[in-house]
Amino acid sequence: MTAIRDYECAVKHSEEVLPGVMKVVFDCPEMSSVALPGQFVQIEPSPDTFPVTRRPITINCLTDSGFELLFDVIGRGTELMARMKQGDRVRVLGPLGNGWVVDPGSKWLLIGGGLGAAGFQFLMDSVESSRVLIGASTSDRVISLPASHVVTEDGSEGGQGLVTALISDELLGGADSIAVCGPVAMMEAVWNSIPEKYRDRVQISTESRMGCGWGVCDGCSIPMSGGGYKKCCKEGPVFSGIEIDWEAWKEAGL
Ligand SMILES: Cc1cc2nc3c(=O)[nH]c(=O)nc-3n(C[C@H](O)[C@H](O)[C@H](O)COP(=O)(O)OP(=O)(O)OC[C@H]3O[C@@H](n4cnc5c(N)ncnc54)[C@H](O)[C@@H]3O)c2cc1C
Ligand code: FES
Repeated sequence: MTAIRDYECAVKHSEEVLPGVMKVVFDCPEMSSVALPGQFVQIEPSPDTFPVTRRPITINCLTDSGFELLFDVIGRGTELMARMKQGDRVRVLGPLGNGWVVDPGSKWLLIGGGLGAAGFQFLMDSVESSRVLIGASTSDRVISLPASHVVTEDGSEGGQGLVTALISDELLGGADSIAVCGPVAMMEAVWNSIPEKYRDRVQISTESRMGCGWGVCDGCSIPMSGGGYKKCCKEGPVFSGIEIDWEAWKEAGL
């Protein structure tokens, strides 16, 4: 397991890439040398604003000297994070969580819903080959990824419809591993549309409200199909689709 550290990182770049969606790039060579695809970091939104706790964000990709995040501005924490500007120094705990299970030379099918595709670039950079399906409500929610097939609910980009319409036996059969990330309802719909014979290839990147981010506070449990719970922050956020108790997870909400 990679050692977790609390880094003080300089913001190298910050911009709004889609309405209400920020890209922030941090300088942190140490983090980029140990982080794995699918891992996340806990960002301190502002050192001066007590008591906003750290917010978990997936590492979207590595850069020459650090890493990049893509996040939705939805509440107090991410509003403060959206104000970060070049040169600011920010406390970043990470890398956290398990990340995707990547076998060398494996072929991947990546299925993302809206901002759930944040983090796919890192995975694509780490595997032999990948095909990408993206579904979003509208073009303003589509993360740009190379050679991805896109559908939007309002038809403003790609075809009109839901991402489940893009899933085919050919795509599933051609993949050694299938990565799914997005809102819970979207992931459940994707899971339900995958035939039994391919389900052991499916890895799900889960989300939960988080406290500590590293296994101490017990605030991020995901219900497991065999009974009991696992911690999203430490034993996840990536679980095999078969492990998850979908009904209980959906009922629990976030
Ligand atoms: C492991 C992990 C990785 C994540 N990666 C990303 C990422 O790469 N990009 C990104 O945009 N977001 C990501 N998130 C979600 C992000 O952490 C939350 O959006 C953020 O913490 C909200 O903080 P806030 O203070 O702005 O909003 P709050 O004021 O805390 O909440 C505002 C609203 O958002 C809802 N909300 C809060 N947390 C979540 C959550 N985890 N999922 C869904 N809804 C939530 C609340 O219920 C509330 O309605 C990730 C979450 C986890 C657990
Ligand atoms: S967030 Fe504290 S145990 Fe997971």
